[in-house]
Amino acid sequence: MYFLRLMLWLTLVALVKSNDWCYTDCNHTPELWVDLEGSHCGEDHQSPIDIVTSIVTTDPNLNNFTFVNFSSRQTIKSITYNGHSVQCDIEENEAEVWGGGLSGQYSVKQFHFHWGTETLPGSEHTFNDHRYPMEMHIVTAKTDVPESEILDKEDGLAVLGFFITATEDINMSEPWLMLTSYLANITDVNSKVELNHNISIGDLIGQVDLSKFYRYMGSLTTPDCNQAVVWTLFHEPIQVHKGLLQRFPKETKLSNNYRPVQPLNGRHITASPATPLPPGHMWCYDDQCDFTPSLWSELPHSHCSGENQSPIDIDTQSVLEDEHLSSFKFTNFDNKRAIKSITNKGHTVECILEHDLVEVSGGGLEHVYSTLQFHFHWGTESTNSVGSEHTVDSKRYPMELHIVNKRKDLTLDEAVQTPDGLAVLGFFIEPPQSTKSAYDSVPAETAAHTSSPASKMDAWKTLTLYLSAIRNISSEVEFTDEISIDDLLGNVNRESYFRYSGSLTTPMCNEAVVWTVFKESVTVDHHLMKMFPKNAGYHNVFRPRQSLHSREVYTTAAATVPGPTLFYLLLSCIGALIS
Ligand SMILES: *[C@@H]1O[C@H](CO)[C@@H](O)[C@H](O)[C@H]1NC(C)=O
Ligand SMILES: *[C@@H]1O[C@H](CO)[C@@H](O)[C@H](O)[C@H]1NC(C)=O
Ligand SMILES: *[C@@H]1O[C@H](CO)[C@@H](O)[C@H](O)[C@H]1NC(C)=O
Ligand SMILES: *[C@@H]1O[C@H](CO)[C@@H](O)[C@H](O)[C@H]1NC(C)=O
Ligand SMILES: *[C@@H]1O[C@H](CO)[C@@H](O)[C@H](O)[C@H]1NC(C)=O
Ligand SMILES: *[C@@H]1O[C@H](CO)[C@@H](O)[C@H](O)[C@H]1NC(C)=O
Ligand SMILES: [Zn+2]
Ligand SMILES: [Zn+2]
Repeated sequence: MYFLRLMLWLTLVALVKSNDWCYTDCNHTPELWVDLEGSHCGEDHQSPIDIVTSIVTTDPNLNNFTFVNFSSRQTIKSITYNGHSVQCDIEENEAEVWGGGLSGQYSVKQFHFHWGTETLPGSEHTFNDHRYPMEMHIVTAKTDVPESEILDKEDGLAVLGFFITATEDINMSEPWLMLTSYLANITDVNSKVELNHNISIGDLIGQVDLSKFYRYMGSLTTPDCNQAVVWTLFHEPIQVHKGLLQRFPKETKLSNNYRPVQPLNGRHITASPATPLPPGHMWCYDDQCDFTPSLWSELPHSHCSGENQSPIDIDTQSVLEDEHLSSFKFTNFDNKRAIKSITNKGHTVECILEHDLVEVSGGGLEHVYSTLQFHFHWGTESTNSVGSEHTVDSKRYPMELHIVNKRKDLTLDEAVQTPDGLAVLGFFIEPPQSTKSAYDSVPAETAAHTSSPASKMDAWKTLTLYLSAIRNISSEVEFTDEISIDDLLGNVNRESYFRYSGSLTTPMCNEAVVWTVFKESVTVDHHLMKMFPKNAGYHNVFRPRQSLHSREVYTTAAATVPGPTLFYLLLSCIGALIS
């Protein structure tokens, strides 16, 4: 019994494998936790997640919690730094929690923290893609389950998660001042000091309204990631002075001890009746939501009213030639196993790539970027529909493909706060220039113009076949066919492009993007393009044009946009070479 208890305890505080895994700088960073012996980290109900309020539903069974001894100053026993977190242990069988829709009574074991750096946020869960500065987890175990079975039950543990936000309030919270004053005494890994019984759990929670919370089923966020946790995330963050929060990374010398968000994989997120939920979608492109594009700037944490926003209209008369805009180097664009999954985000369809496989460099970029995902912007199902985000000399194209890349030396959170943290490659998509569906009816003729048009259109056929499987918003399916990014791009000219500094084109519109907009369009049959609005169910998913302000748009030196004459000249040259 003691042995089992010890095992559970060690698993909970993550001491047992402290040398085998980490957040950064070791062999087993979060992406590789799946490889650890006995790991559940690759299963499909993992934590943390992004709390997307647009898909949260209210559950009337999520009544108020009952907290026992949360205001007692006798419950917090000790504080320790275990190499992964700062943890406070609770006296055994002292503090308890039930209600709140939990299936029974839970006993509080410990609480611990997740943080970023002194300047960057580090909560584990995110809230509509927003990461809070820190997160506190109060870990509780079900009292009527034998300890040896707790990790085998989906509700064996209940974790109460609190977002922590930084304030500049001169009146520092006394309990947090007291708690963080101990950090200087536990800088060595596994050092531990007793607390002098001056603080209660309730003192740390402060004024948070405990009747407003979210609920979902998930896992421990550290190895072995057992799927044994009923998660509660409180809606209101705890307010703590900025200087006190900075003590966590500063004193421990540990930073970014949070796991990246995990896919929802069909799970539901519910909210207690008191939790305010936005009616319908938070933001959208049409007028069916609270925040239409002109109001995106009013979203919390939004950058959408900045001076360097995207998309823009590219006026080819005023672009500047830049000889530094050299050829790109594309790594693993030809890898047919690079696409991991495809998901319906509610405002786009996104293909998620395998981690750390595909890369882009060169092309005047000053860093190596790793390719995260690509997604699409479109209009309607009608034949003449247009839906690209960028326009060239005011011409809007039928669709636009965005390949999103993150600076390899930065985390995603750092990248979205850095002016060149992201590089997006934009490709316009157009139907074949020749009338009707050339690829279907006259393959022989097109074969003379392009290297392998049939296989390229096969790639788009394969991709668009997945769309019917992700009709539901937030659904995601594994990509099992073998197609590469090169297969989708075909033989589009990748030497000739425009360059400017801009932003993400969806909230929160972070101005972190080096934009590349290729001049030549990728060719896709209209009936395949139509699959996007048809299956996704939403239309015209492009942001209106933004002002250039003081920015310049640059172009590769070779030529301006190939006009019809040059284009046909080019074709006949190729024709001459072939024949
Ligand atoms: C609450 O704390 C008191 C004092 O430490 C203790 O006697 C009591 O058993 C605790 N209550 C529960 C339900 O654990
Ligand atoms: C700080 O606290 C004191 C005493 O509680 C109060 O008088 C003062 O107004 C507070 N200051 C601010 C800025 O809240
Ligand atoms: C923390 O460290 C300081 C200075 O090293 C020491 O004076 C103090 O007694 C320590 N406090 C505890 C609770 O160990
Ligand atoms: C905690 O309380 C004890 C007595 O209850 C007191 O001696 C000690 O100074 C307090 N510690 C802090 C950090 O306030
Ligand atoms: C639940 O808690 C909230 C805030 O603490 C309170 O306003 C509300 O009346 C409580 N509801 C019930 C049913 O007790
Ligand atoms: C979409 O959602 C509906 C209702 O929630 C469900 O019945 C259906 O199976 C789902 N379809 C897919 C493809 O996931
Ligand atoms: Zn945690
Ligand atoms: Zn986009």
